[in-house]
Amino acid sequence: MSQILFNHPSEKLYELFKTTPTPAIVFDLDSVEKTTHQMKSDIKNFINTKINFAVKATYNESVLKTISNIIQGCDVASVGEHKLAKQCGFENFTSTSPYYSIDDMKYFCANDVVLDLDSIEQIIQFGEQNFESKKIGLRVAVPIPAILENNASIGLDSRFGLELNEDTLDMLTAVTQKYNLEIVRFHVHTGQTTPDLLIYKLKYLLEKSENFHNLKMINFGGGFLYLYAHYEKLNKTIEEYNYIYRNWSKKNGRKMEFLVEPGSAFVTGNGYLLSKVVALKSHTGETPFVQCDCSFWNLNPWIISNPLNISNYGDTINEYTLCGATLFEQDKMPNKKISKVRINDLLIFPAYGGYVGNMKNFNLLHKIHFWGFYKGEYYEIDKPSFLP
Ligand SMILES: Cc1ncc(COP(=O)(O)O)c(C=O)c1O
Repeated sequence: MSQILFNHPSEKLYELFKTTPTPAIVFDLDSVEKTTHQMKSDIKNFINTKINFAVKATYNESVLKTISNIIQGCDVASVGEHKLAKQCGFENFTSTSPYYSIDDMKYFCANDVVLDLDSIEQIIQFGEQNFESKKIGLRVAVPIPAILENNASIGLDSRFGLELNEDTLDMLTAVTQKYNLEIVRFHVHTGQTTPDLLIYKLKYLLEKSENFHNLKMINFGGGFLYLYAHYEKLNKTIEEYNYIYRNWSKKNGRKMEFLVEPGSAFVTGNGYLLSKVVALKSHTGETPFVQCDCSFWNLNPWIISNPLNISNYGDTINEYTLCGATLFEQDKMPNKKISKVRINDLLIFPAYGGYVGNMKNFNLLHKIHFWGFYKGEYYEIDKPSFLP
């Protein structure tokens, strides 16, 4: 986890973990604030580039308000996310989704949000409505060369977006002419972005924009955890990015604006999952099972951090399968190496600040409590309204 973006919990917060009822998610809101300032000031150095927050990364209102006090723009994937983000103080919006219903389209048009559409069919459905605004954006699938792929990047194997090949360009010309639409934005998200991948996307999308004369903006999506893992390359990347843009702008006599919209880089390392050990058992030949009072399945399907046993920190390290509290067989974290575990020990899972509490609510478990730590104060904060 990036040392630039995220801090270790303060001593006071670490002590508070020990008295917090479990299961709980604790947000270090001071750290969310610091992370947001850090990214905002770094991104300012990229020419014509602004930073938005990808709302899908958290639906916690306290976290959203903390971020919207510092940056005003965000990306939303649905009407629900737009309503929540607006209520939490965001003022500028982008949106991309593989599917908007006609009612969704009407809602976003009425709220002056340009939709970045994912398929020719969605563009036709939008065009047929004959909305007053003729502006649309395009979700673009980027062919990432093998050399720039990383273990969390996604190029043409992504199911999202349109590949900008000749057939697509012909179809786009036909539908935009038919419905008098203007394509004003490219929107991509290619998983985790390294500095070299960002430069590649800039070059690729600027080149493609030469076929799109109304295009005013390129949105590079999120995936900044990897970008910050290469923080030492940031200054050189900024120089290269600005140089490429200036040359392109001179050659084409046009300007372009850029957006980035990380989600996890704002929040992931600023949240902790707290869970108690409630049972221990073993099956012959299997790694011992540790039953926890939280569910990993409901909370976060893709970031699985290694927990600390803070009740028995420093004891011998053993291997366990941590088990979640639902009846889903895969609700577990296999092969975790942690200090020897006893009943009632407190496990702290770092990197649980993003994409938590917004997943399925399988088995309708008891609600998980959310806590916020801000300027020395510790208090229970709102949970997503759809959790029981
Ligand atoms: C369109 C889009 N933008 C931004 C993000 C945020 O990505 P991350 O949280 O990795 O920064 C996502 C994540 O799925 C996305 O789909």
